[in-house]
Amino acid sequence: MTTGTDRPTDAEATPGGSAAPGGNSSAYGESLADVYDSLYPAAGPAIDSMVGFLQKLRPAPASLLELGVGTGRLAIPLAGSGYRVHGVDASPAMLAKLHENDSTGRVTTSVGDFSALAVEERYDLVLTALNTFFMLPTQEQQISCLRGIHDALADDGVAVFETYNPQVYHRLTEATTRVGHLAPDALLLDTIQVNQSLQSVLVVHTIMSAGGLRKVPEVSRYAWPAEFDVMARLAGLRVTDRWADWDRSPVTSHSEKHVYVVERQNV
Ligand SMILES: C[S@@+](CC[C@H](N)C(=O)[O-])C[C@H]1O[C@@H](n2cnc3c(N)ncnc32)[C@H](O)[C@@H]1O
Repeated sequence: MTTGTDRPTDAEATPGGSAAPGGNSSAYGESLADVYDSLYPAAGPAIDSMVGFLQKLRPAPASLLELGVGTGRLAIPLAGSGYRVHGVDASPAMLAKLHENDSTGRVTTSVGDFSALAVEERYDLVLTALNTFFMLPTQEQQISCLRGIHDALADDGVAVFETYNPQVYHRLTEATTRVGHLAPDALLLDTIQVNQSLQSVLVVHTIMSAGGLRKVPEVSRYAWPAEFDVMARLAGLRVTDRWADWDRSPVTSHSEKHVYVVERQNV
């Protein structure tokens, strides 16, 4: 992977991996880039806690690779805190938004599929936030991603994953609907269907606005903590900590999310 000036200027560029823009891994971002910042606001106490969490692990100006960087919701404040941030995303539309949002131009990016990272740099931190790791729909792709992270980490580097607690979805035995506010004249309707035996979740995001209806299907695969540990080992990594949030609260069976801290095994 290259850093520095590899801003995505061209839909053919794939320095972060082998994704073909327009392929499956880019579908979510390509369809939601215009509304993503309304869904996930780019400021607030949770982002401050995330920055504080990483500062305690490896303080700025450490180098940081964010997988599935999206519109820069996290990458831009991290760069503002002094990190040298590079982001990979399969979606050129998400990265175009990121560069619009990044007024100081500090975050560098490349288009690529993080299930097949092609690494030239090694980073002090690799961040995969907001359940993005679970967007890889098979166990093979998740292991392959972890192998790529292994190669992308400096010897004493640390990878951090923010995922939901699989229980949150696994307990949904019936199709479920959630409604969210997007804008004064736009609504988001999510229908959620879980296949417990495959550990897969199908969310169909329906955006209702003055422009009409848009449907965006999203398939993800959750991994249980014990499985995550084993997949990490297979990739030459080991989980050193698991927390319930960015404030390092202990995990309980009621935790909504998990924050994993992972190192190379040979440290
Ligand atoms: C839920 S968003 C998270 C964005 C950002 N990290 C944040 O916290 O706001 C997931 C992002 O991952 C990207 N993505 C999903 N699968 C990917 C893959 N296989 N390779 C690269 N990017 C991917 C999507 O395009 C999207 O921008």
